[in-house]
Parts: sequence; C-alpha cells; structure tokens
Amino acid sequence: MIKEIHEQPKVIRNTFKGYISALEPIVSLGVTREIDFNVLILACGTSYHAALVGRHLIQQLARIPVQVELASEFNYTEAVLSKTWAIVITQSGETADSIKALRKAKASGCRTLVITNVVGSSATRLADEVLYITAGPEISVAATKSFVAQLTMLYLLAFGWASTDARSLGNMIAELRQLPNRVHEILDREEAIAEQARHLAKYESQFLVARGVNFPIALEGALKIKEIAYVHAEGYAAGELKHGPFALLTPNTPVIAIAARDSTYDTLLANIKEIKARESPVIAIAGDADTEIDKYVDSVVRVPSVDPLFSPVVNAIALQLLAYYIARERACPIDTPRNLAKSVTVE
Ligand code: M6R
Repeated sequence: MIKEIHEQPKVIRNTFKGYISALEPIVSLGVTREIDFNVLILACGTSYHAALVGRHLIQQLARIPVQVELASEFNYTEAVLSKTWAIVITQSGETADSIKALRKAKASGCRTLVITNVVGSSATRLADEVLYITAGPEISVAATKSFVAQLTMLYLLAFGWASTDARSLGNMIAELRQLPNRVHEILDREEAIAEQARHLAKYESQFLVARGVNFPIALEGALKIKEIAYVHAEGYAAGELKHGPFALLTPNTPVIAIAARDSTYDTLLANIKEIKARESPVIAIAGDADTEIDKYVDSVVRVPSVDPLFSPVVNAIALQLLAYYIARERACPIDTPRNLAKSVTVE
C-alpha cells in the first residue's frame, strides 16, 4: 500500500498525459457531450466515492445533471433512463454488482462508458466506450492510486465537457498539470502525518466530516481506516452530525474535519465549534495557507494549499497516509486485511 501511495504523482501524470493539448486549453477524451443528455454514475466502494466527487465536478463545470448510484442498489431501482450517459467506474472491471448495473443501464437504452484500470476486463467488453486510468497494477486490497487516477479521469471528463470560457479552462488545466508536484509535497510530510496517526491509533471509534466536494473524501478516509486499521470510522456530512451522531461524541471520539477554503468553510467552522462543545478532540486537515483553522481545533494535518476544486486529491492522500500509519501502529496486516478480496466477483 505504501508503495502504491508513493506512485501517485506518476499515476496522475500518466492518466492526464495524452488527453491535454500542449498548445490550447483543450481536453479531448473522445467521449462526446450529447445535447440534453443526463449522466448517471454507477460504482461500488472506493470507486463510488470517486463517482460522488465526479458529480460535483461535472455539474459545476459542465452544468449537466448527474445522478450517482451504488451499483449494488441500482440493480433494485426502477430507474428512468432516457437520454443518459451511464458511466461505470471500476478499478478491476470485474466487480459483480458494477457489471450487473452496466448490463441493466445498457439494456435500458443508456450510452455506456467504463472508467477502469484493467485492459480487457469484463466491463470493457460490455461498454460502448472505455477510458483507462493507467494506474498500473494495484496489488494492495485498499484502493489508493486507482482512486486518485479515477479522480484525475473525472477532472478530464468534466474539463472535456466544460461550458466555461477558454481562459478559466486553461487555468484549471494548468492546476491539474501542477497536481503531481503538490502530491510530492504531501508525501514529503509522511513523518508528520505518521505522528498524528500514532496518536489517533488508540481510539476505537472516529468520525470524519466535511462538506461539499470533500464530503466523499470523508467517506473514503473512513473506509480506508475501517478496512486496514480495523477501527470503527464513519464519514459524515458535517451538517448531519447534529441529526443523530452527536449522541456518540465524547472525549474518546476524535473527529477529523476536512477543511477546504471554498463556500463550505464558514459553516464547517461552525460545525467544528459544535463538536468541540461536546469535548471531542478535533483534528483538521487544512491547507498551509489556512491559519484561521488553528484557533478552532486541537491539531492540524497540513496539506499544500491548492484550488478547492483539486482539494479532494490532496486531502485523500493525507487520509491514505493517516489510515496506513494508524494500521501500522495497531500492527494490522495492511496489504491483506481480513475478510476482504481485491476484486469482489459475487453480488
Ligand atoms: O474494482 P472496483 O473499483 O469495482 O472495486 C470496488 C470496491 O470493491 C473497492 O473499491 C473497495 O471498496 C476497495 N478495496 C476499498 O479500498
């Protein structure tokens, strides 16, 4: 897992190279934006979390309505699917629920696109179009580099379909090109993150909260902690804690708050104050430029400051490292966690 975490700068570069023009602000994936089409994204586990980020990106940049469904549940819904691009995201291309959802979307008349890592996998043989994330073989059960590569592909898709002006698109593409360097900067902070993890490793129950485009990253961070460190961790929309989970907050329930300097920031600070009033320790994940956050929390995991649109990538990688070092501290078998398989080929 740690090897795959460290491959991420290269993986991001490999995923975007070839799709971005060197001369103009143009991203061409060969997947056309159809007039009046909606988008439906189907996936499981970590790939589902990438899909939730993708919804934000496509809706914000391309102004196309996007619905996201767990593939395992989509198979039991009566979906209305006229004029729809159904996008199935699956690292392995072999996940049984995702394949079944893909078949259903296709039979319902959707145009289908698979985003996968595995050439020739079952999903690629069923879909109308395929985009490969080129993350290279991912051996560890916990998905890390494939998640970041999926996010990169979703940025490209949103840029390719974007209805923004050429100048803003050019700026976003320039940020994407810089992202591998930002990721190197997080990886250089591994020891500081490991130190925070050693402290967190003693708690048996944790919450991760965020708002907006980082809410799926709270879900993903919690999944990583559960999966490899065997700690009960729940990802929650920050505004939802007060609708029930507050009852669980005690000085023994740390809350990791992912803070992005976007329109969610002030409300998130208000949520952090509410959590502190319940005496839970709060650890923020925040950008270097955010000096405000220190006044509200017990400690801060620092990540490089990036445009909030790209903050899911840097925050996800900080959480991968945090989960990894919590698991190490608890002496867990990180690459082969109990009860799990890399590819889930049963429904
Ligand atoms: O191969 P897929 O992307 O379809 O796999 C989906 C999930 O089984 C997978 O992401 C799982 O949640 C990961 N082990 C989480 O780290």
